[in-house]
Amino acid sequence: SELRADAVVLFGATGDLALRMLFPSLYALSVDGFLPESFRIVGVARQASTTEGFRVRVAEAIRLRHTGSPVDEAKLETLLQRIDYCRGDATRADGVVELAARLKQLDIQVPMFYLATSPSLYSAICGTLRESGLSAAPARVVLEKPLGRDLPSSRAINRAVGEAFDEDRVFRIDHYLGKETVQNLLALRFANSLFERLWNNLTIDHVQITVTETEGVGDRWPYYDEYGALRDMVQNHILQLLCLVAMEPPADLDPDSVRNEKVKVLKALRPMTPVAAGNASVRGQYGVGLTDGKPTRAYADERGQATDTETFVALRAEIDNWRWAGVPFFLRTGKRMAERRTQIVIQLRDVPHSIFGKTGNAGLTANRLVIDLQPDEDISMLLINKKPGLAREGMALRALPLSLGSQPSADTERRRIAYERLLLDVIDNNPTLFVRRDEVEQAWKWVDGVVDAWKQSGLGVKPYAAGGWGPAGAFALIERAGRAWHD
Ligand code: BG6
Repeated sequence: SELRADAVVLFGATGDLALRMLFPSLYALSVDGFLPESFRIVGVARQASTTEGFRVRVAEAIRLRHTGSPVDEAKLETLLQRIDYCRGDATRADGVVELAARLKQLDIQVPMFYLATSPSLYSAICGTLRESGLSAAPARVVLEKPLGRDLPSSRAINRAVGEAFDEDRVFRIDHYLGKETVQNLLALRFANSLFERLWNNLTIDHVQITVTETEGVGDRWPYYDEYGALRDMVQNHILQLLCLVAMEPPADLDPDSVRNEKVKVLKALRPMTPVAAGNASVRGQYGVGLTDGKPTRAYADERGQATDTETFVALRAEIDNWRWAGVPFFLRTGKRMAERRTQIVIQLRDVPHSIFGKTGNAGLTANRLVIDLQPDEDISMLLINKKPGLAREGMALRALPLSLGSQPSADTERRRIAYERLLLDVIDNNPTLFVRRDEVEQAWKWVDGVVDAWKQSGLGVKPYAAGGWGPAGAFALIERAGRAWHD
């Protein structure tokens, strides 16, 4: 299992994901010396192109996307020399003949097949790889979401993939797991003795997870309209964040130790019921409004007709186990919101009795741990302390953040693309940060329950103005529980 991959075969090599994310990540890995000496990159797509022509295209994409220092042309050239292009339709057996010959000619022993294509092709491509013998061990496969649209369709994909690749050779990407601060969450919880002892319903009042974007759906609507915010963001990214916050300490960082704990959390999620749906969920769809000061179109106009697809969702989730009984998890995500923000808030309980009275202290919240993932990375603990100065009566308090964000290393280091870490992990055969089959399916099970509850209770989308914080119902949802969204 220590076997390093010696090639990545990129299906969909001329597509958006490959050019915007994967090649720039491979460039960064190459510059940092992480790619094995003999590592090859083989792009496969249906478009006619030569290896030369493809290399030019890749170089342009990397120059465009690379941040921080300028692209080092010599090092870029070194990367380009590793690249081959192979035209082919991988959904058909005769479409990979040339590829198979090329891999043989390059003497590739451990290929990783990256399916950067439409998910509708995953089953067919895996079938071709199996029939052509290319999927034989130790070959690996890398897949992106969406893995299905519900439990049955996700099972069908997983089954087709599983016929070609054993589960320990399947790497399902959730790019949120490649983000620096997501990993930092593990360090925060399990490398500090301070938090873990308090990490339960005795100390924690509730948890909030917010993932908002200013962008709209735009011309992605053909995909998006079929999925909506619940399937696009909650089923994967938000539930993954929830798992990392809520899971029990694993015995070690072995892939299955971590993933076993995550599955337990997903299993403990209380199913949504039609009766609870109206109280515990809000669906929204953006209308016109101002995004970063500019007027933007309503979702229905982008889509060309009115549909019941949610571009915003807020949920109150409950985890039915000893650690979290009675601790609500408030989740929300939306497009065309006031700002881009990915944030986890751990709200601690209030002190049992305040000796400081109310003088000047109204509205003071209890300790709050705020974990920012985007746009800036930070972990800060709001501590209550005294306002300097004299007072006749009582003592005036304030909440001040004790923050890790100001650490110099956090500012000077280039922000890595999540895919750099994930690609390196596939090369090194480390699946810890990838989603296991039972995890995906368990997450779909819960999400399917939410969809059913919405259908049965007839919960429709509520309009919200672009550039705001979603429908009024999202505030009511958390206020009914006596809490408020952090801002
Ligand atoms: C994707 C969703 O998985 O994540 C998109 O399909 C969303 O709709 C994106 O915009 C957000 O990712 P990030 O890394 O920009 O927060």
